[in-house]
Amino acid sequence: MQRLDELKLPHLAMEDQGFAEDPLPHFAAARAQHPWLATCAFGHVVHQYDAIKDLLYLDHSLIGAYTDVVDIMGARDTSWGRFQQESMLGSTGETHARMRRVLAPAFTPQQAKKHRPLMREVIAKQLDEWVPKGAFDFEEFASYFPISVMCSLIGASPTVIPAIKSSLEAFGMSMSMDREILPQLVKAMDVLDAFVQDLVAQRLKARKPAGEEDLLEILVSTLDDGGLSERELYDVLIFLFVAGYDTSKNALTLAMDSLIRQPALYQRCATSLDYCRKVIEESFRFLTTSTIARTVTKDIVYRDVLIPEGSLLFFTVNVAGRDPTAIADPDSFDPDREQAKKHIAFGQGVHICLGQFIARAQIEEGLHQIAQRMRNPRRTGPSSWRPFFGVSGLRGLPIAFDPAAALEEVG
Ligand code: HEM
Repeated sequence: MQRLDELKLPHLAMEDQGFAEDPLPHFAAARAQHPWLATCAFGHVVHQYDAIKDLLYLDHSLIGAYTDVVDIMGARDTSWGRFQQESMLGSTGETHARMRRVLAPAFTPQQAKKHRPLMREVIAKQLDEWVPKGAFDFEEFASYFPISVMCSLIGASPTVIPAIKSSLEAFGMSMSMDREILPQLVKAMDVLDAFVQDLVAQRLKARKPAGEEDLLEILVSTLDDGGLSERELYDVLIFLFVAGYDTSKNALTLAMDSLIRQPALYQRCATSLDYCRKVIEESFRFLTTSTIARTVTKDIVYRDVLIPEGSLLFFTVNVAGRDPTAIADPDSFDPDREQAKKHIAFGQGVHICLGQFIARAQIEEGLHQIAQRMRNPRRTGPSSWRPFFGVSGLRGLPIAFDPAAALEEVG
């Protein structure tokens, strides 16, 4: 058996802009030197699909690397630093299990299904406003969509959107490991905190009656039975906005980028919501948004390597679907592919994405209507890339298209 730090490993410069622009050749080169491990500027990278899956299940030996990230950012004793360490992803053991237990009823597939009509209404309204332009930055368009849906789900007025959007944008860079953005992160935290505290105060004054509960009512009712403390409720609400914002926006933008290059698939999305589901699942495999960071809390032995307590590990779930050792023909985008190994875009283990059914529902509903209303989309300019660490994706997707009316829904 060898210790992690005794291995001769390839290095992945994941913090470089050039890496973010075109990461796959770097992973291919790394794989040629070691099948599942590499080093990066802040620790080690687990990059092979099966190794990511196996190791992320070892929750008893891992913790969300938020203390490490807060230290890398020099953010101890800031409001953002506190939030990172105490949020769901940073918590562990019984505290985390209690939060999941309390929140689970609001995030089932059935609840997500119940929200679909509201999601449809929100996206239709946004399309009515944007489609007549005939050309815009799709990423900018997509950025309004998850906030508008979340505001509707929790009964917040859409007038708050401009104020919280820039804070969510700043939060999207939380895990980019760039110390210079700390003042923006602290300011964003304070804006979002004031917003959710006000939201909860308003709701406590005017509760929704039984039978009319929305997502906020379900969450606020956790205060009544002591499920969550007030501070935990505020943090959960902030976290839901933060966790759902740039992930959903970037995922929809990446899907659109793939579809622009495959017009026949895009056209099918206009006529079939079920096909949109397949396209979105394939898009989650093809290229998605998140890298996952964990600190090892107990020595792990895996494939004859000792990974000692204290190691900082990054799991590249965003590119794991392109791993040729796990996925056949990984570079072809094929929504009809038979796939034994499912994508891991939503993570694994106890922290697997709580909002995954809401995320899927809103992106599927969004794509179905977008494909109807924005015909023949084509790129009108280049994109750049967001940092690879944290939540990655395209920065900008300028497009033009032929505006169209929605199709009549059959059945
Ligand atoms: C395409 C959209 C999304 C993607 C790709 C995504 C991805 C992820 C991933 C990879 C994790 C695990 C992180 C880790 O283990 O460190 C996660 C956790 C989480 N996500 Fe999502 N997410 C998305 C949308 C959403 C939405 C819309 C919500 C809320 C409505 C949400 C709420 C959460 C929460 C609360 C957690 C933490 C769960 C826990 O710690 O137990 N996510 N997400």
